[in-house]
Amino acid sequence: MRALHWQRKIYLDGFAGKIPAIPANSIQLEQAAVRKMTPEATAYILGGAGNEQTVVDNRQGFEHWQIVPRMLRNVENPDLRIELLGQQLPSPLLLAPIGVLEMAHPLADLAVARAAVTTGVPYIFSNQASVSMEACSAVMGEQMRLFQLYWSRSRDLVTSFVNRAEACGCRAIVLTLDTTMLGWRTQDLALGHLPFLHGKGLAQYTSDPVFQQLLDDFLQQPPTARPSVTATTLRHLIGAVRRYPTGSFLKNLRSGRAMGAISLFSGIYSNPALTWVDLAFLREQTSLPILLKGILHPDDARKAVDYGMNGVIVSTHGGRQVDGSISAIEALPGVVAAVNGQLPILLDSGIRGGADVIKALALGAKAVCLGRPYVYGLALGGQEGVETVIRNLLADLELTLGLSGYKSLAELNPDCLRPV
Ligand SMILES: Cc1cc2nc3c(=O)[nH]c(=O)nc-3n(C[C@H](O)[C@H](O)[C@H](O)COP(=O)(O)O)c2cc1C
Repeated sequence: MRALHWQRKIYLDGFAGKIPAIPANSIQLEQAAVRKMTPEATAYILGGAGNEQTVVDNRQGFEHWQIVPRMLRNVENPDLRIELLGQQLPSPLLLAPIGVLEMAHPLADLAVARAAVTTGVPYIFSNQASVSMEACSAVMGEQMRLFQLYWSRSRDLVTSFVNRAEACGCRAIVLTLDTTMLGWRTQDLALGHLPFLHGKGLAQYTSDPVFQQLLDDFLQQPPTARPSVTATTLRHLIGAVRRYPTGSFLKNLRSGRAMGAISLFSGIYSNPALTWVDLAFLREQTSLPILLKGILHPDDARKAVDYGMNGVIVSTHGGRQVDGSISAIEALPGVVAAVNGQLPILLDSGIRGGADVIKALALGAKAVCLGRPYVYGLALGGQEGVETVIRNLLADLELTLGLSGYKSLAELNPDCLRPV
């Protein structure tokens, strides 16, 4: 839908007394979602690492650049189309991989997958999804999807995830490099709450044949440390067993399968020993393009080229991993210079409005990934909430592009901006 139609619809609805349930302003959107979500969901979704300076800097970094609008240049119907990985896309927007969406809404990834279809925006499935990639793909038809991989300690599991992603029509593997360990997430720590321990965000694992085989082997071993048994432990245990997707509650409780899956996951999901050399293994497993997510240093960007990768995503994981790290938008020019046009560069971390997208593209990104805002839309209104957040952002982008004097994204370059 073109920006002016969407804008007019909102005003006409308002004329008829219907005020939007999903705020157009990103700060108000976040505030509305916080009012709706549980304290645990708020901590997990909003929270960043340490003192959350990088969460702040991801936003402030955009303020170091200003658009200098141009006039009288015929900007009717600005063109938002781009080409990425050989695909024509209607806009430069993708949905970032976000784990444990069941904390925001019961339909979780499925609602997002449907919203991706109705808005024509590609969706990057999370390795920590609440709904399996097969179930999401089943509702997506031809709509572009990608799979985000966390490289676990089991290479067989890595291979299985990648094979499944290929089989369900994903167009690329997004390998996230910045989470070889979980960051020091102070809001989650304050509540002593980690969703995975409650069996949330494990759908890609519990639906995987290799993981199930690993679980059979794991359950043969003597159990490791268990938390002390209190009424709360029992309540959480029951919740985790209920969440296990297959088999009866009693069977899963007695066999220890549900809790075993959580323990096994905790032991293998990440692999801090990974190095650049390991990428050759992934390359052998798939003919899909591989994008590296979490690149911030120009030297790493150059290595991505040298190691035959197909793209990079400049990202701080939304400030959730290294507190005090450079913000994504400030890292972008260095990465763009290092890559020198040899790979497409995407950016996430701090995208909250059309102007942010314009700045990222003017500085050399090909596309951007939207993160937390669509989760706020999900929390507030399920699929429709996600659709509204996407439509608002695209309308804002189209209008801001035209009002800045550009008829297409291809016209953007660093000269469109002024450093502050
Ligand atoms: C609640 C939450 C869960 C996330 N889960 C994942 C994940 O499973 N895999 C991943 O690569 N990135 C994950 N990310 C990072 C996002 O893909 C993206 O980099 C980040 O949200 C961008 O920051 P922004 O949302 O502040 O714009 C997560 C981010 C949030 C907020």
